[in-house]
Amino acid sequence: MRSESMVRDLGLAPEGHKKIDWAARHSLVLNTVRDRYLKDGSLEGLGVGVALPIEAKTAYFTVVLAEAGAEVAVASPSPLFVQDDVAAALAERGVTVYASSQNPPEKSDRELERVLDRTLDGRSAVLIDDRAGLVRLVHTTRRNLLGGVLGASEETTSGVAKYEAMDSEGTLEIPCIAANDARCKYLFDNRYGTGQSTLTAIMQNTNLLVGGKRIVVLGYGWCGKGIARYAAGLGARVTVCEVDPVRGLEAYADGFDVLPALEAARIGEVFITATGSRNVLAGPHFERMQDGTILTNAGAVDIEIDTVDLATVAAKVTDVRRNVEEFAMPDGRRLYLVGRGMVVNLAAGDGHPVEIMDLTFAIQALCTHHLANNHGRLDTAVHLLPKEIDDEVARIKLEALGMGVDVLTPKQEEFLRSWRD
Ligand SMILES: NC(=O)c1ccc[n+]([C@@H]2O[C@H](COP(=O)([O-])OP(=O)(O)OC[C@H]3O[C@@H](n4cnc5c(N)ncnc54)[C@H](O)[C@@H]3O)[C@@H](O)[C@H]2O)c1
Repeated sequence: MRSESMVRDLGLAPEGHKKIDWAARHSLVLNTVRDRYLKDGSLEGLGVGVALPIEAKTAYFTVVLAEAGAEVAVASPSPLFVQDDVAAALAERGVTVYASSQNPPEKSDRELERVLDRTLDGRSAVLIDDRAGLVRLVHTTRRNLLGGVLGASEETTSGVAKYEAMDSEGTLEIPCIAANDARCKYLFDNRYGTGQSTLTAIMQNTNLLVGGKRIVVLGYGWCGKGIARYAAGLGARVTVCEVDPVRGLEAYADGFDVLPALEAARIGEVFITATGSRNVLAGPHFERMQDGTILTNAGAVDIEIDTVDLATVAAKVTDVRRNVEEFAMPDGRRLYLVGRGMVVNLAAGDGHPVEIMDLTFAIQALCTHHLANNHGRLDTAVHLLPKEIDDEVARIKLEALGMGVDVLTPKQEEFLRSWRD
């Protein structure tokens, strides 16, 4: 198993083991799911191909799948999301890893293809996907392996949008679960996870104060709401930019200013994109920005900030701190890009808090289990995770916290069902 993996340096494993052990200790929900559901043999001998950032929480998730009997192979959608010590430790724990922070970004697809080759080598497999990378490849360069795929489960909003595009075009050939759209995923991961870890990454990388700053959040979806809330909680003055007027109004009612991005460009000190779209900040915005403006992206799409345009208009680009580049404009203004415009909490941070990823990976573990047991009954379409499974994850978490919810009485259920009452 060890020899199959391609990682930077196996000698880094001891530090990686410590990080994975810390994540394991705080993964109460995933551990309960493992004990309650994954020991029934459903994953025995099953291939599980995983495309996720390689850090402690994802690593522990893949270890849990491997311990349940699955043949797991994992690669990262980008070398910027690879912690080499964790990759090394994972390789020592029975998971095949194709990931190194030193790999050229343009070879990321090659590593995802290796994951498909390995997990679908003479066996059926479930794919745990990020931004639809594995599903795209198994429908194109690895079509020969498509017959073995029982289904796929997608981690993020942008990836679900790609699955839906394939579905409506009629090109999707496997059942897919939008794990991102489970309530126990987006309500916590996208909102609280992205909120906390994005602010943490910005603070750690710039070492600047948040209190009093004018922070502009572009996109007021689940991620944007979390980012705005954490920024406001730290004392920032938050402005929101949206294209959806209802979401814009919601941001206003939540206490934030709402402005078109070109107007916000003049007043913002820190910009955070979370739209899932491209070129949300580009040349016309850069032209209006103040000296010292900080630019960050928290969306999964790494072209939300048009970094090509930024580099083109800049007279000089300098690395001024770890993960911070200075773009000196010809007129003397300086703009600072954190994490190269990649998703900042992963490219220049430690990802979401452990308890958040515990919920997400409990969902993903149950998606894998569901696909392993029900793939024959699922159409080739994008499905939601059944509500009972989503509810069960929340119930397990509440139980772990020593809390609980009520159950409807039969009379209440009847009242809610009936229109005569
Ligand atoms: N950083 C992370 O760890 C993390 C975690 C989860 C999701 N994501 C990614 O973050 C992005 C947003 O996810 P979400 O769940 O909040 O999605 P969402 O669909 O709930 O929200 C996106 C919002 O952006 C708005 N928007 C679209 N284009 C815009 C534009 N040009 N200007 C202003 N607003 C615009 C939309 O109207 C929508 O309200 C996705 O790419 C998702 O994959 C990142």
